[in-house]
Amino acid sequence: MKHFKRTLITSALPYANGPVHIGHLAGVYVPADIYARFLRLNGEEVAFIGGSDEHGVPITLKAKKEGVSPQDVVDKYHGMIKDSFEKFGISFDVYSRTSSKVHHETASEIFRTLYDKGAFIEQTSEQFYDEEANQFLADRYITGTCPKCNYEKAYGDQCESCGSTLNATDLIDPKSVLSGNKPLMKQTKHWFLPLDQYEPWLREWILESHKEWKPNVYGQCKSWIDGGLNPRAVTRDLDWGIPVPVEGAESKVLYVWFDAPIGYISATKEWTPDWEKWWKDSDTKMVHFIGKDNIVFHCIIFPAVLKAEGSYILPENVPANEFLNLEGDKISTSRNWAVWLHEYLLDFPGKEDVLKYTLTANAPETKDNDFTWKDFQTRNNSELVAIFGNFVNRALVLTEKYYDGVVPEKGELTEYDTQTLADIITLKAAVTRAIETYHFREALKNAMDMARLGNKYLADMEPWKVVKTDPERVKTIMHTALQITANLTIVFEPFLPFTTNRLRGFLNLNPLNWSELGRTDLIKAGHKINTPELLFEKIEDDAIQAQVDKLLATKKTNELEEAMTNPAKSNIEYEDFAKLDIRIGTIIAAEKVAKTKKLLKLTIDTGLDKRTVVSGIAEYFEPEKIIGQQVSILINLAPKELRGIESQGMILMAENSDGTLEFVTTPNKTKEGSEVR
Ligand code: MF3
Ligand code: ZN
Repeated sequence: MKHFKRTLITSALPYANGPVHIGHLAGVYVPADIYARFLRLNGEEVAFIGGSDEHGVPITLKAKKEGVSPQDVVDKYHGMIKDSFEKFGISFDVYSRTSSKVHHETASEIFRTLYDKGAFIEQTSEQFYDEEANQFLADRYITGTCPKCNYEKAYGDQCESCGSTLNATDLIDPKSVLSGNKPLMKQTKHWFLPLDQYEPWLREWILESHKEWKPNVYGQCKSWIDGGLNPRAVTRDLDWGIPVPVEGAESKVLYVWFDAPIGYISATKEWTPDWEKWWKDSDTKMVHFIGKDNIVFHCIIFPAVLKAEGSYILPENVPANEFLNLEGDKISTSRNWAVWLHEYLLDFPGKEDVLKYTLTANAPETKDNDFTWKDFQTRNNSELVAIFGNFVNRALVLTEKYYDGVVPEKGELTEYDTQTLADIITLKAAVTRAIETYHFREALKNAMDMARLGNKYLADMEPWKVVKTDPERVKTIMHTALQITANLTIVFEPFLPFTTNRLRGFLNLNPLNWSELGRTDLIKAGHKINTPELLFEKIEDDAIQAQVDKLLATKKTNELEEAMTNPAKSNIEYEDFAKLDIRIGTIIAAEKVAKTKKLLKLTIDTGLDKRTVVSGIAEYFEPEKIIGQQVSILINLAPKELRGIESQGMILMAENSDGTLEFVTTPNKTKEGSEVR
């Protein structure tokens, strides 16, 4: 394996259109931070790069929604994001932003270099244009009906209801978000990176030379490459971003995914004048920490840009994570379904490491994972408090009690003592191997096993009993326990830096490096330790319940909002309306459809016949209570089989804002078969 001189760690630049949440931390920043801290502890030369991604359509949309400028939006969120990362101890060497001057210059230069080399193709195509707003519409500026599932608020690039990836031109009834008008098609010129030309090279570089990449990353790259790569536009018609540095490109900017990864380079420049050794020396190992939605950009597009430029190194690895869900649902900024870091910091002051511990122990490394508050509580109470905290507390309190806080001399070691100390070395090897191969959950589990080892050692040795019969032996036990404790200050340093810092304070020890992990003389006889405090405290049920309640409240608000924001459908002709045959009918029988929650099987007297209708109203009406209820029924709806029952028509219902339903009927009893027009 190639030996590198230094490591350049990049972490995805979060969009500055909202604060950061636990999904960001778990997917990208915690693993990147563990890796950076680990390498530094090993005395390696590291640059850990971060920053805010301040361009792109989501930011302009947010600005519009809040009635402020895009710069206001990014200023606000960049500040919040930076602050949260700092408070969580994410140890960036630099945290920059893409609206900075150096970034604009760097991205422009790289674009210009590629342009001058003829690395782009120019192409004119038809794009949606809003005449009233006088501008071309990015995909996110267009909504319409999804051609796949008929959801009426699909975006030009994606339907959030069925998840399909769309082209804006696929939408039925497209509308401009800006004016609400139907957009026109208008010609516009853009520059494209011909990714197809890079295919043989990408095949060789990734599929042949990087078989060691994580299966989820390798697999996604393979399916992109096998699926055939197409030229990718690297410019956009938008007024927020980096102007395209070419004549005839007025009112065009660089595509956000062209400039954002270049942000890693600009941030490095901002950090050190010696930035080129980090980016242009093949002795630098570059590792990109990202979430899975960023894989194609970091493994295919950005490398193609760097390759086209010619003087930059390429990533050695891209250990992308899957997604973290929250209490069973996808985390969503717009739906406020998240645990926001700035709120966590207020609700759980001093417990930054507890969250990081939970997120690493449950990291979405190989598949999507779920964060639950219950699991958070259990991890804290049964692992951090009951194992790590308990062991450390016993070791320190007994030393205080028996020896006034002075580390005792050790006598002869028993086989058990020796074995315990040897196990530390085995665990060190396991943690090291796991971190080096980006298996952070496993690494943390092995670190925790070291605390477990200590906890078991004291439980088995029972110094509090032995002290009555063999006080000399207790000195050796406590001496050994303190060596384990000192080792914990090293092994947990990459994961729980606030905790190890406190623990060193209790032990009166200086920071140690990774090479010292496993030593049995980290703390000498005669050394005075400080009066200990508790390392972790129990988290009570009411604190957890408060968080669960907060999420429940969010869920309620979202449901209400969805019900209220029901925009008017577009106009139809009278002939279309006249096709509907709606009659007044009466429910004469009703029963639940077996094994369903929502369905009732109704028999309706329509005046013309008695027919069966399956209706999704069971959550709101008990079958016995609606016999005799008059209804409006659409009788010429094509029959459809539901759960093996043929449904012949549809009952009309009005939906209240809380989702409950009411029958649509007449104020007085009306004869069955009367037409509703
Ligand atoms: N802002 C992007 C996201 O949140 C990530 C950008 S990573 C970078 O998905 F490399 F492009 F900066
Ligand atoms: Zn859809």
